[in-house]
Amino acid sequence: MTLPLLIDTDPGIDDALALLLALRSPECSVEAITTVAGNVPVERCTLNALRVLEAVGPARVPPVGRGADKPLTRTLVSATHVHGDDGLGNLAEIREADGSLRYPKPRVSLSPLDGPDLILDTIDRFPGELVVVAIGPLTNLALALQRDPRRMAQLRRVVIMGGAVGVPGNVTPVAEFNFYVDPEAAAQVLASGLPIELVPLDVTRNAILPRSVLQQRLAACPDPVSRFIADTTQRGFQFGEEIGEGGITLHDPVALGIALVPSLTYFESLHVAVECEGALTRGMSVADRRSIPVGRKAPATCRVARWLRAADFRDLFLSRLCPGSS
Ligand code: BDR
Ligand code: CA
Repeated sequence: MTLPLLIDTDPGIDDALALLLALRSPECSVEAITTVAGNVPVERCTLNALRVLEAVGPARVPPVGRGADKPLTRTLVSATHVHGDDGLGNLAEIREADGSLRYPKPRVSLSPLDGPDLILDTIDRFPGELVVVAIGPLTNLALALQRDPRRMAQLRRVVIMGGAVGVPGNVTPVAEFNFYVDPEAAAQVLASGLPIELVPLDVTRNAILPRSVLQQRLAACPDPVSRFIADTTQRGFQFGEEIGEGGITLHDPVALGIALVPSLTYFESLHVAVECEGALTRGMSVADRRSIPVGRKAPATCRVARWLRAADFRDLFLSRLCPGSS
């Protein structure tokens, strides 16, 4: 059966790659996209989601709902040093030889519903079936829970890219970006009882895409989508090289890949909570991995991805983004 997906996102270079993976995968149908402030302000994230849709031109364009413009209680911290000022590696500035913009303003229009309402509306369209893949700060999900927890309880799965369970963070020594930006939202979502599958840095860090590998695969399928991918990933590769990672880390595509093919990982049920108070530990994901009898621990709040079949994931990712190449 085709998986109905809603993608909650803050594009973001790796978010854009995750959207492309979903839009080009036959296992799922992208039923809605909601945007949230994160890597860049929400207006830019929204424009970027529309840009991806414009680049792919899917037969059925999903509704796009602009979501929260700031975290629940905090000032937005963004990541333009990673993703470029426009969030997509500054592709909005690229011009053709004749001076025209390579990526003019998209013609795809926005849903009248805001992000949280579009989440609730999409649940109504697919009660008990909808899978949410959340690859930005969790503000929209927390707001949708506040507006209607009963409807949210009808989600089939909630796959979240976020947290760092047994590895260092990527914003602070202990915090991953999505949880760091809106720790209160992450805490509320993790405590909600929703069927959460957490895909933390522990797993996504194993999915590094070297520049040469992508270039070779894109060269084998020259089309406008390949050009879009090449243009938007330039900045990502530069950042990966600056920090010595040897490529782009495919955080968000990994979460999407696991949503499509759960056997890419194995899950461990754990109690995970998010630190909202600490001065040094803001947004830290605190997982109870103590070896004590289950009954003496708080019950699990989610299933945590603990490992990645990295080669299989890379094959899936490249075969969908560069069809026909090998
Ligand atoms: C997460 O942070 C963002 O910059 C990425 O898009 C990803 O969702 C990784 O920590
Ligand atoms: Ca993201």
